[in-house]
Amino acid sequence: MIGSNVEIAAQKLAQGEVVGMPTETVYGLAARIDIPEAIEKIFKTKERPFFDPLIVHVHSTEQAQTLTTMWGDVTKALAKKFWPGPLTMVLAKSDKVSDVITSGLASVGVRMPAHPVALELLRTVNIPLAAPSANKFGKTSPTSAKHVQTEFQKEDIYILEGADCEIGIESTVLLVKENPHNAELSILRAGHILQSEIEEYLELEELHFEFLTKVDKKESPGHLKHHYMPDIPLVIVNSCREEPEIVEIVNQRLQELPDVVEDVKIVKPQNGVKTFSELRLSSDPVVAARELYGKMRSVAEEGHDFIVFYKNDLHQGERWSAIFDRLNKAASLII
Ligand code: TXA
Ligand code: MG
Repeated sequence: MIGSNVEIAAQKLAQGEVVGMPTETVYGLAARIDIPEAIEKIFKTKERPFFDPLIVHVHSTEQAQTLTTMWGDVTKALAKKFWPGPLTMVLAKSDKVSDVITSGLASVGVRMPAHPVALELLRTVNIPLAAPSANKFGKTSPTSAKHVQTEFQKEDIYILEGADCEIGIESTVLLVKENPHNAELSILRAGHILQSEIEEYLELEELHFEFLTKVDKKESPGHLKHHYMPDIPLVIVNSCREEPEIVEIVNQRLQELPDVVEDVKIVKPQNGVKTFSELRLSSDPVVAARELYGKMRSVAEEGHDFIVFYKNDLHQGERWSAIFDRLNKAASLII
């Protein structure tokens, strides 16, 4: 059920229910971190494997500090500059955070969302809320309350209404390992906040840090090859090809795909494909990010067999690379 009553949402959360929560990036499926059954309900509702850790949402830096044993100068500066906002910092976890939330890792992802309804809910509950994106595991993320409702039709979930998400792709996930002399940073998931913006700010503040590009797979278990998949196959077309040729190649190659990769079911029709819809995005990457998931869902409903996205030379730069991180994972094929 979609509603706008924060009190009802808070009551449901207190009863151990999961609740749909708007944020500026995508909608989340929230539960209180102090109710273990509610946290388990997130995994069950999303059909998410327990190896993929959850992000914890807070309303203040004071509340964030209760979740971590590490709050050095770099962490503090990043929180001051980018919170509330689409930056998740992965920090050493405190004992307030259960192993189920972090999938057994010694770190926890923390973020303060910049959405008035999310902040109001967080303040009302006054307990941090774990919230992954409110979609079934491996599927397209939701950017409207309606999307969440469609995703969880069979479940009776209260979804807080909060208009369409302004940013449209998930937060930047930044691993922060700080000691008194230095901070090692790694981008685990690209997002609206760019590495160049983080660098620029920390340099301005004259803080010591270095960006590491190689990340141990164990530190980022949710980094999978496929994710965000629409209900029909998405095909990214890299080079100039005629439509009949695209259909022919897709028919050939879809049959060769595995059924499942890293627990994510690959979207592929059983009986061949004939026609496709085109996914068109704005040439401005900020607008394209906002449109991405909503359009991926709507073109999948146009009645064709698959979706084509044409990659072109203008899709360059840091902002587009966050969008292509999503598109490449959502695609069944790249040709
Ligand atoms: O914008 C967002 O971040 C949205 C909204 C709802 O806040 N949330 C979101 O959550 O995208 P989710 O669960 O769909 O994606 C979180 C990502 C996953 O890839 C997960 O593996 C990673 O963050 N993550 C969470 N905690 C982590 C940790 N302790 N170490 C490494 N990666 C972590
Ligand atoms: Mg997600």
